[in-house]
Amino acid sequence: MSILKRLLAELRGRPAQAPAAKARAPVTRGQARPAPAAAPPPAAGWVTPHFALFNKMYREAPYDDPAARERLVESLRATATALQPNVPGAHAFLADDLLVWFRSLGFLSDPEFVAACLPYADDTLIRARIWRVYTLCWAARSCLALPGDYVDVGCYDGKTVEIIMRYVAFSSAARRYFLYDLFDNPPAEARKALHGPGLAEDVRRRTEALGAVQVVAGRLPEAFAEAMPERIAFAQIDLNDAEAELGCLAPVLERMVAGGLLVLDDYGFLRYRESQEREKAYFRSIGETVLELPTGQGLFIRR
Ligand SMILES: C[S@@+](CC[C@H](N)C(=O)[O-])C[C@H]1O[C@@H](n2cnc3c(N)ncnc32)[C@H](O)[C@@H]1O
Repeated sequence: MSILKRLLAELRGRPAQAPAAKARAPVTRGQARPAPAAAPPPAAGWVTPHFALFNKMYREAPYDDPAARERLVESLRATATALQPNVPGAHAFLADDLLVWFRSLGFLSDPEFVAACLPYADDTLIRARIWRVYTLCWAARSCLALPGDYVDVGCYDGKTVEIIMRYVAFSSAARRYFLYDLFDNPPAEARKALHGPGLAEDVRRRTEALGAVQVVAGRLPEAFAEAMPERIAFAQIDLNDAEAELGCLAPVLERMVAGGLLVLDDYGFLRYRESQEREKAYFRSIGETVLELPTGQGLFIRR
């Protein structure tokens, strides 16, 4: 299915399929020149990004008006025609609410990342935020030489953590991964399809073969009292809730070892502007800053 059809399918709320690799069409007089030739698809494989209107901002003004959404999709369609993103070897990327071009996009053909994502090759939710998933993989791997456990604050269904664990070969590390979430009855803003009474057990099953995990179900930050590592090397916080996230920051940072990395998933997203403002103020109060990444994540390095 062409990216144009996929854009329309997403607009209409229908599932879209991954694009197939396409041969470049010959250029004839009067036609637009194609995008610069990209490197051939690497033999080891490729993770296909997926564009979708998943962000809740598309349901609000001005995009709650179908005409405004159609105008947005039309403009993306025209841009996609010119740039041909999301095909093997492409220089353009359209996913993660992000459109970039003239890029190497080397992470999409990182063989270990490709292998780590393989079970989710058809998972549009994962592929629609594939750059964010890679940021986490990179950060988790960067912390492997540090002492301390790994922490995921708001792990939801555990698929992202599963990919991270596979990417860093977590089972060979003498450390634990603490996975926190309500799992059931989340606030409306954070509600997703798989929330329910069985989700905590599903996450345990999904991750336990990949290393030592501790699944902690309950409202944060209070649930930290149930179980929390003494030293943290790597953490992600992703709760879609400014108040809860702020409550989690100090307990995580107090335990984070020097050189440890914290990824704040919501930090750069307009919908969670309150999170950024409050987190920025907190970091300022301790003389630190967060890097707002193009993916929308915030990256903090513990010194
Ligand atoms: C956006 S989802 C996390 C997605 C996840 N990081 C991933 O990679 O798929 C936010 C999660 O935060 C959880 N959550 C929100 N507020 C919470 C709270 N106060 N305590 C515990 N979990 C909470 C929700 O249950 C939800 O699963």
